[in-house]
Amino acid sequence: MYLTRQLRLILQPTLTVVAVAACAGATILYAGVNESGGEFGVFGTPGTGLPGEFGVTYDFISQSTVDTFVDVNQINFFRVTFLMERMCPLATGLGSTFNETYFSEYANAINYITVTKGAYALIDPHNYMRYNDPSSQPFSGSIIGDTTDSKAATTAQFQEFWTELASRFVNNPKVVFGINNEPHDMSTQLILANDQAAINGIRSTGAKQLILAPGNGFTGGHSWTQVTGANDDPSSEWLNKLVDPLKNTAIDIHEYLDEDFSGSHDTCTQPGPSNLAALTTWLQENNLKAIISEFGGSNDPTCLSLVPQLINYLSENDVYIGWTAWAAGPFWGTNSPCCGPEVGSLEPGQRDEAGGPNGYTTVWEAVIQPTINLSALKRSGTSSLS
Ligand SMILES: *[C@@H]1O[C@H](CO)[C@@H](O)[C@H](O)[C@H]1NC(C)=O
Ligand SMILES: *[C@@H]1O[C@H](CO)[C@@H](O)[C@H](O)[C@H]1NC(C)=O
Repeated sequence: MYLTRQLRLILQPTLTVVAVAACAGATILYAGVNESGGEFGVFGTPGTGLPGEFGVTYDFISQSTVDTFVDVNQINFFRVTFLMERMCPLATGLGSTFNETYFSEYANAINYITVTKGAYALIDPHNYMRYNDPSSQPFSGSIIGDTTDSKAATTAQFQEFWTELASRFVNNPKVVFGINNEPHDMSTQLILANDQAAINGIRSTGAKQLILAPGNGFTGGHSWTQVTGANDDPSSEWLNKLVDPLKNTAIDIHEYLDEDFSGSHDTCTQPGPSNLAALTTWLQENNLKAIISEFGGSNDPTCLSLVPQLINYLSENDVYIGWTAWAAGPFWGTNSPCCGPEVGSLEPGQRDEAGGPNGYTTVWEAVIQPTINLSALKRSGTSSLS
């Protein structure tokens, strides 16, 4: 997900909470939110937002928010974003040389979630499978492994990066490795090669945890079996060729419910179940599982109806094992991470732009929380497909 500069719509949403049949299923093992903020503060002139300043231009989590979600909402899964150009400074490039300051700030957030609170954490390099210029994400930066771009990091460097990162979390059973956020407009075969390199690097360290592999087209579920970008092969043609010796890799899917699947409109019009039907069949045919690591909606009545419909569909189809809603995070303030400008974020304690309750109250508590089968989230041990 990326910030869209949208015309502000002056709307007073009708706060009619649609009655939703809570159809909790037993198949969702991981449920929670994105914690977005580690990638903030880079929009604008290339380079000016790097490296940034912790607590000023970027931040990872607010511990009290994680407390609320774990202790009150009883969820067990957080997707925590970071920026690869901060983890691997441009001066040394993508690979095994990390900025130890940024790494330790990130590791503190992951350890708070996993060790202190006992939840699972999805490690998310929020980079669109690009590296070297995040200033206009998702479109800036060289595509990793693009041999026609002399400035591009190589697939081998990407493998080195993941080998180093996994080695640092090899003894933490509660992490999940997300290979990259939303690849798009690139060769689907190259996405397969980069995903495979990441898996090879992670497994070379002895790490056994769950891995999430993204596809093309912003890893959209609705377009999984379709051509995306200029003329890029459907993800379905390549992503079933991944090999994980431990068979502990799931597909990483993003799915928004507005007209263009961007998550930038406050009205939901897309039916999740029928849009995901082809993906569901493909997962079944290939004996694969998926996690929806981004979805969301505003507090418009259309979204208050279609968001829980999507979650219930995931609960009813056992190829889906988890989800994280977009997004909480310490730095949203009254800004909205998705789905129209006025709803605010999912961060408890923040407000919407009119000073009223934000999406934590009007969306999360209203229609997302009731869909969760909390007893199915009570799990421990190494992150896995079952
Ligand atoms: C909730 O999850 C538990 C544990 O997995 C399962 O036994 C139960 O059937 C689920 N409840 C519903 C309503 O699906
Ligand atoms: C490493 O990250 C810290 C924290 O953001 C920053 O202050 C420092 O300048 C960075 N160093 C390099 C070499 O990028």
